[in-house]
Amino acid sequence: MAIGFDFRDRTVVVIGGTSGINRGIAEAFAADGAKVAVASRSQDKVDDTVAALTEQGAARAMGTAFDVRDAEAVAAGLAGIHDALGDFDVLISGAAGNFPALTSEMSVNAFRTVIEIDLVGTVHVMKASYPFLKRPGASIINISAPQAYLPYEGQAHVCAAKAGVDQITRTLSLEWGGEGIRVNSVVPGFIDGTEGAKRLAPTEEIRQEILSGVPLGRMGVPQDVANMCLFLGSDMASYVSGCVINVDGAVYQRGSGHLGQKMGDMLRAMTASR
Ligand code: HXC
Ligand code: NAP
Repeated sequence: MAIGFDFRDRTVVVIGGTSGINRGIAEAFAADGAKVAVASRSQDKVDDTVAALTEQGAARAMGTAFDVRDAEAVAAGLAGIHDALGDFDVLISGAAGNFPALTSEMSVNAFRTVIEIDLVGTVHVMKASYPFLKRPGASIINISAPQAYLPYEGQAHVCAAKAGVDQITRTLSLEWGGEGIRVNSVVPGFIDGTEGAKRLAPTEEIRQEILSGVPLGRMGVPQDVANMCLFLGSDMASYVSGCVINVDGAVYQRGSGHLGQKMGDMLRAMTASR
């Protein structure tokens, strides 16, 4: 069954949109005719993505390089996108960093690094984009993670950061709802082949363990997450705000216990062998 969305004349901005899941989201909006802008730290990744977006059918494609930890750079980058493409109809905030590490083995700076990218970076993006959001009608989508609500060994930093992201989503849906701005989070499950999945399933054994626990029987792909973002970005979702929506094949209804335990066991064995 073919389902089409029409994003012609819509401006879509994807922060962290130059690889993995977020790039898949940017490409999906491009294929439906949107004007699409992406941003991340690497100018090379930005350039490569912009070329792909044009090929996919974007009405216009552009990109800019900045680090979401730098509030001034985020503000300047988003102002540049606004100058070029106009008010933002859809804003996706998905820049993130992750590495598995036991809290006892992690420096405070390591913990802070993930908080600064995932959580404070989201605040920078929300605040800098606020003046440029289409009113009424803008749709903000924050890319969260199951760690936001499930404890997971080796992931205290990500758990704390993404829980914060979802609370920002809920709070801004209240603060900005009166202006006609919708705010939701999308929570991908394990999305095969991505950087995040590789870091959390560094061996085929762990990957198979994860796969065996997915009720729908397969790993996710970026298009699965992109499809939800197309819906949330469209007028069909005009009464949907303040939601945290899983796109995970129901895997997290099982809880994280044994998966996190495998990761914890692996990290403890690595620590013991040092
Ligand atoms: C312990 C680590 C570490 C590791 C880095 N650090 N890697 N500590 N174990 N494996 C520590 C460093 O020693 C340093 O602390 C601090 O973290 C900052 O490290 P830097 O390398 O200086 O940081 P930076 O260059 O800013 O890079 C950020 C990064 C990096 C997060 C560490 O991996 C990155 O850029 N990642 C972006 C891509 C990514 O992670 N994608 C996956 C997203 S998936 P000290 O004390 O030494 O100074 C995701 C959720 C997935 O978010 C969920 C799946 C279900
Ligand atoms: P990814 O390919 O590493 O994507 C991360 C993106 O963010 C890249 O474009 C990266 O580009 C950018 N980025 C990272 N740090 C940045 C910073 N400080 N400033 C600006 N941009 C930055 O990872 P992914 O696995 O696809 O994950 C994408 C999103 O999905 C993340 O929010 C992640 O938490 C979430 N998620 C992933 C999974 C999964 O299975 N992969 C599961 C649940 C949730 P640069 O390197 O150029 O900066």
